[in-house]
Amino acid sequence: SAIEKGKYRHFMQKEIFEQPTVVAQTLRSYLRPGEQRVALPQIDFDITAIDRITIVACGTSYYAGLVAKYWFEQFARVPVDIDFASEFRYREPILPKGGLALFISQSGETADTLAALQHCKKQGQVIASVVNVPTSSMARESDLLLPTHAGPEIGVASTKAFTCQLAVLAALAAHFAVKKGLLNRNEEAIIVEHLLEAPACLNAALDHDEEIAEMAHLIAPARDVLYLGRGADFPLALEGALKLKEISYIHAEGYASGEMKHGPIALIDDKVPVIVLAPSGPLFEKTVSNMQEVQARGGKVVLISDKQGIEQAGEDCMAVIEMPKVHPLIAPLVYAVPVQLLAYHVAVAKGTDVDQPRNLAKSVTVE
Ligand code: G6P
Repeated sequence: SAIEKGKYRHFMQKEIFEQPTVVAQTLRSYLRPGEQRVALPQIDFDITAIDRITIVACGTSYYAGLVAKYWFEQFARVPVDIDFASEFRYREPILPKGGLALFISQSGETADTLAALQHCKKQGQVIASVVNVPTSSMARESDLLLPTHAGPEIGVASTKAFTCQLAVLAALAAHFAVKKGLLNRNEEAIIVEHLLEAPACLNAALDHDEEIAEMAHLIAPARDVLYLGRGADFPLALEGALKLKEISYIHAEGYASGEMKHGPIALIDDKVPVIVLAPSGPLFEKTVSNMQEVQARGGKVVLISDKQGIEQAGEDCMAVIEMPKVHPLIAPLVYAVPVQLLAYHVAVAKGTDVDQPRNLAKSVTVE
């Protein structure tokens, strides 16, 4: 049956709002809530023997992989190498014996990613893929298929596929940590509990839709926008900038907060809005001091944080968006929502073609 927009104006908007449902749906196949355990599909290789993971993807899927790098290293203590598929193929990568190669793709058909997968297969890597289309080429060629259950994604700019990828990758990182004995039974239960809270937190983030629609008018006239984040939220800054570029055609850059002083701070004046992603936690103070460097140069900040973070640092901001207080493992999922909504509403304010932005394709099957 044809997929309809229903009460929504655009597919992208509908897909943003579907996230609590599809993330819950995806998590159901990776968690056993009753037993408070992570439960992955049958794996027929020894996970504890894997001492290096190579992640390869393109576009938004690449940013999901970049978040996962932080998780795998932090929680499972497995070193991760990550690359854009188009770079990976031609840089003659050195692949470790017994390594795991992990491919992330909504469509499962992106030409560069598929070719990288085939290359790794020839080199004897164990192939795992996180894909949304279970009948796709990548799904068929993988040793371990980790499906996302986002349902068909129509909007060219990926949204719900991204948060579902993060859900799978978080469960996978937790699974590695459990198998390696880094999380005991009790710690595993706590992680599962936090993951199960994700859909409710996504709903809480979606409650800010109208407020973000109003705020979009402050961003729409800008020529350039900067996004800043740290740690696992740094890839969210990249994803936020990508979303804005894709559908509103405003030039945007994502930067690691601490790297800003090495270049992009030169761009700052009162015409460059700066979106700061800063959940309260161990990295908060550092991010805020970078934010203050921006404000000291006249930069107009939109701070996305939780109640505590906003109370502490929201005062001199042009606008704030309050997220629920969340565990660091699910912060990237939840903080994806405001950056998606912001890009969406800026595009609507500018009157661009949200679902079919110029020059872009949903799935790129040529090199
Ligand atoms: C295209 C789409 C992006 C997507 C990228 C990777 O560029 O416009 O939204 O992130 O391809 O696609 P994949 O299907 O491999 O995730």
